[in-house]
Amino acid sequence: MQLFIDTADVQEIREAAELGLLDGVTTNPTLVAATGRPMRECLTEICSIVPGPVSGEVLATTYDEMLAEARELATIAPNIVVKIPLIRDGLRVVKVLTGEGIKTNVTLCFSPLQAVLAAKAGATYISPFVGRLDDVGHEGMDVVHQIIEIYGNYGYDTKVLVASVRSPLHVLTAMQMGADVATIPFKVIGQLIKHPLTDVGLARFIADAAKIPSKG
Ligand code: E4P
Repeated sequence: MQLFIDTADVQEIREAAELGLLDGVTTNPTLVAATGRPMRECLTEICSIVPGPVSGEVLATTYDEMLAEARELATIAPNIVVKIPLIRDGLRVVKVLTGEGIKTNVTLCFSPLQAVLAAKAGATYISPFVGRLDDVGHEGMDVVHQIIEIYGNYGYDTKVLVASVRSPLHVLTAMQMGADVATIPFKVIGQLIKHPLTDVGLARFIADAAKIPSKG
């Protein structure tokens, strides 16, 4: 499974990239706004750090404006993936962009039926938001399971990108289900690395290493 980071903060992206495990980046308007930087400047720098797919989202919500904005975003770098919201006009835009060879990530997906429509429009990625479903009392990962099953039934190529990840358990379950990608906040990447038994074990090795005689 590919691991993306879900942030627009270039410091976090650089740190995650240094781990050597980062396959891509997703951003959204909220994450870009938090940086205080213009969208294009922010995405251009991210694309220069990470060679893998970098999702940048359109801000418009009408067909003509989304299409124009998506084409503009696609000129930023070859690894840009244009994020389009899962609304009626968004699906139309995805169909056109797919025909033009522009990669898309259909965002704000909350049901398997929405995911099928995105796949039929030719989306490169579908982003089910698992954490936000959990927040309203639905089991977000159940939706991921249903999408994977249905895509398998019909052979859709659209990759399942698990989004709105809140915990290591989301990542583990996504892997068990065979999701293609999980996009993970910086904090959760740190949680994936850390285990208390690793820390305790290392402390003991360091203490015992000090008892090893330097000469035989
Ligand atoms: C996905 O691409 C979105 O940027 C993101 O995962 C949303 O997560 P949130 O629900 O934590 O805002």
